[in-house]
Amino acid sequence: MRENKMKHSIIKTLSAGLMASFLLSSVASANSGGVHLEPANIDVHNTTSLLRGAKNFANYCQGCHSLKFSRANRIAADTGVSDAQIKAIIFTRDDENNPTKPGALMKSAIPEKDAAKWFGTAPPDLSLEGRSRGGDWIYNYLKSFYSDSSRPFGVNNTVFDNVGMPHVLLDLQGVQDPVYRYDLLHHGHHVEASFTSEEAANHALEEERKFEVVNLGLFGEDIVGSYDTEKEAAAFVEANTTYKVLLNKKEVASFASKAEADKYVSSNPVDGGKYKVVAKSAYSVKSSHKIERHVDHLEIVKPGKQSPAEYEQTIRDLTNFLVYVSEPAQLHRKSYGIYTMIFLFIFFIFAYFLKKEYWKDVH
Ligand code: HEC
Repeated sequence: MRENKMKHSIIKTLSAGLMASFLLSSVASANSGGVHLEPANIDVHNTTSLLRGAKNFANYCQGCHSLKFSRANRIAADTGVSDAQIKAIIFTRDDENNPTKPGALMKSAIPEKDAAKWFGTAPPDLSLEGRSRGGDWIYNYLKSFYSDSSRPFGVNNTVFDNVGMPHVLLDLQGVQDPVYRYDLLHHGHHVEASFTSEEAANHALEEERKFEVVNLGLFGEDIVGSYDTEKEAAAFVEANTTYKVLLNKKEVASFASKAEADKYVSSNPVDGGKYKVVAKSAYSVKSSHKIERHVDHLEIVKPGKQSPAEYEQTIRDLTNFLVYVSEPAQLHRKSYGIYTMIFLFIFFIFAYFLKKEYWKDVH
């Protein structure tokens, strides 16, 4: 009985833990900075796409990023090409400037120490990127660089804000500019309207905005008054402000206006003591609305060498390759299943004859 109870509580604890980790993981995967991700539509069984991705990775990415668990000959075996072919596809040189051997681990070309200095962050190893970020994220990341002159490399990224990586595929994709959207927010979160021009947004802000006097109470903020102008709101706060006079950090008097407090200080000189006048009010003024600028979408303003559709294929291949690399066994998972079925089928024949043999004398 006791044991039963214990079992029950273990199961309960386990299932609660499972539930919690499930919830947490769904929160984590939803956390892509609030941007909408287009589906990458990759297919890890498309070996032509994988090999194109591998080639582009060696050409455009491996200068900075390593794949420290991958070897070119494993990629060759998985995609059904020879070692000689993969050498031509993934062509890199080692530290002695000799062509890298297909059995070598895929290192990056730059030393990590320098890289951290040049980019602010060292380019991470991308072996597990396909699993940690997922294909959709990588695909959208490679699509979302835009010009931003305030950044060191002149680019930013809508999927990875203030990214430290330069847009290495710029000449393929072309230059993208941001098209901004201006949201009119009420009380900090509710979007009341969106505008394409800053001017129109500011105009709406002027129309809608109230200056609210809030009371910073024990249980959050209470709006106690709402005014059209900042001046009126400030007058309310001023009327409800007291001015405390401190002498050596101890309160000695309190007045309704600063002038009275100052007068007290100047007419009561003390030797060696130090006065301080501090304003105390439970109220402060907040604006009911504000404008927030977001990148609405990106627009190609200078075409690259590839058309948008070709570029999408290039980054789909790269994404496909990174997702494959993060778990090479996924290519074979299906065939494991088929082998298992074949094994079970053959085993069944033997089991059937064995059963017949055992039961022979019973019937
Ligand atoms: C010139 C060096 C350089 C090259 C070339 C380069 N990257 Fe990067 N990459 C970086 C740096 C630096 C970061 C780290 C950015 C940060 O954390 O702000 C980065 C970050 C990334 C990330 C995000 C990692 C994360 O935090 O999850 C991905 C994905 C990525 N790179 C993919 C690529 C791909 C694909 C290519 C080739 C098309 C490439 N990179 C080429 C320097 C480079």
